[in-house]
Amino acid sequence: MSGRFWVMVAVVMALLGSGVAGAQAKGADAEGHAWWQHAVFYEIYPRSFADSNGDGVGDLNGITSKMDYLRELGVDAIWITPCYPSPQVDFGYDVSDYENIDPMYGTLGDFDRMVKAGRERGIRIIMDFVPNHTSDQHAWFLDSKSSRTAAHRDWYIWRDGKGPGKPPNNWISLFGGPAWKYDATTDQYYYHFFYAAQPDLNWRNPAVEKAMLDTTRWWYKRGVAGFRLDAVDTLFEDPELRDDPVLPGVNKQGDPNTENVYNTNLPEVHTELKKLRKVADEAGAVLIGETWTSNIAQLDKYYGNGGDELQMPMDFMFTTVNKLSAAEFRRQVAAVNSARGWPVFVIGNHDLVRSYNRYGNGKNNDAIAKLMAAFYLTLRGTPIMYYGEEIGMENNDPTRREDVKDPIGRTGWPAEKGRDGERTPMQWNGAANAGFSEKAPWLPVPASYKTHNVAAEEKNPDSVLSLYKKVLALRHTNEALMEGSYTALNEDDANVMAYLRSYKGKAVLVALNMSGERREARFKVGGLRALVASGAVAKGGDVELEPFGEMIAEVNP
Ligand code: GLC
Repeated sequence: MSGRFWVMVAVVMALLGSGVAGAQAKGADAEGHAWWQHAVFYEIYPRSFADSNGDGVGDLNGITSKMDYLRELGVDAIWITPCYPSPQVDFGYDVSDYENIDPMYGTLGDFDRMVKAGRERGIRIIMDFVPNHTSDQHAWFLDSKSSRTAAHRDWYIWRDGKGPGKPPNNWISLFGGPAWKYDATTDQYYYHFFYAAQPDLNWRNPAVEKAMLDTTRWWYKRGVAGFRLDAVDTLFEDPELRDDPVLPGVNKQGDPNTENVYNTNLPEVHTELKKLRKVADEAGAVLIGETWTSNIAQLDKYYGNGGDELQMPMDFMFTTVNKLSAAEFRRQVAAVNSARGWPVFVIGNHDLVRSYNRYGNGKNNDAIAKLMAAFYLTLRGTPIMYYGEEIGMENNDPTRREDVKDPIGRTGWPAEKGRDGERTPMQWNGAANAGFSEKAPWLPVPASYKTHNVAAEEKNPDSVLSLYKKVLALRHTNEALMEGSYTALNEDDANVMAYLRSYKGKAVLVALNMSGERREARFKVGGLRALVASGAVAKGGDVELEPFGEMIAEVNP
């Protein structure tokens, strides 16, 4: 039987099979889909988005001033990485007060104005919740370290060493060195999975759990539509503190490789997520997870039993396909489609080298950036964009150790250059500092800001930004893209990734040339009408694609 026949069968099956209504959830549409399943999320690193007061660091008023830009782009919710008071050792991921705004970013009044400005434009605000650890300057920790009998002593994880200069066990901090720090005041060690300035909270203490759940309630009351939960897999540790197995070799920080069997992914994590979810449900909020999983079974666990944990665990396995491989992406999309919850796609964030560089070949980077947009924004699932991705922002890695701001880049240099490169200021226009700030920004903008900036790209119909806008607009209006099923097409094609999104007798076909050669893809369909295309034309049921070209087309069966 010919390949074409099976494509036809797939088209017909997909058209027949789609449109089956799911269980109707509260506030859901006819298909049982909630708002966050139709939404496009956009991650903002507040230090680097827009600087309203000219101090070189972005702020909340800056974000508010860009709300119209976000609306026009097609964003429905923004996730802001931590903007709470913090000594900024880990740029906000070391929180010293969970219920306030760092003066560097503004005030609670500014926050309320931002929420209002968002609401007026249909943009929800998602905050970043850092449950695993606080700053070592948090009042809880300052009290905890003051004496062995302090009221907050048991809010953190304190243990005796194994002997003079010997920590309680062999656990290694993700950010380098032992995960234990000796504190002479009380002659004990405290545990920190990340920096020593980020002591781990003791979630086995009910007082900690209560304080943290209350914090989420506090923000929900202030108008927050949900949280992105930071580093959820690290919440619990083995009470017996058993040593982690040691693996061969050393990591980028020069520490022995270990398998984090006893300090990550403990089953208790899921008990706690269920509790956080209960509170979220009372507020109609959504929980997104920083879920680094290595297989679908692990990812499945984060959805909970019957959907009682995270609505949106991120599929980071998708980001580990670090090359344009139709076969690998096909496999990964199929895998996440087999998971028991709604897929969540990201291609970049503040911890990952920008997608522009990860997928780019140095020659066709803009075309590839467009291809990736046409890809992950048309899949069945919710995308989370990273600021600047829509204009083809590139990594701007430091070239000298003394310029590095991210501490892991200083301790791990040169093997680890840190994460500064993917956190540079948003490029608004071609003026000095890319229009981000009047003063020198906290991180330098790359030279490419001259061509890759919002003002220039808004004028150019072929820009990366224009393509993003077109795809996002389509995503919000086309029912097959919003509600439809996913069916892979031409699965033996090594170069062109193709699939159908189908709903109630209508279908959209997506064809993506992941190769640097011209390709033709044949589909057994009556005809195709291009909806959004770049470097591709439809001829009958076939598509001719330039290198890295993409076609999103309506199918006439
Ligand atoms: C998460 C954040 C990262 C941070 C770490 C510690 O991985 O995304 O930026 O450094 O948690 O909070």
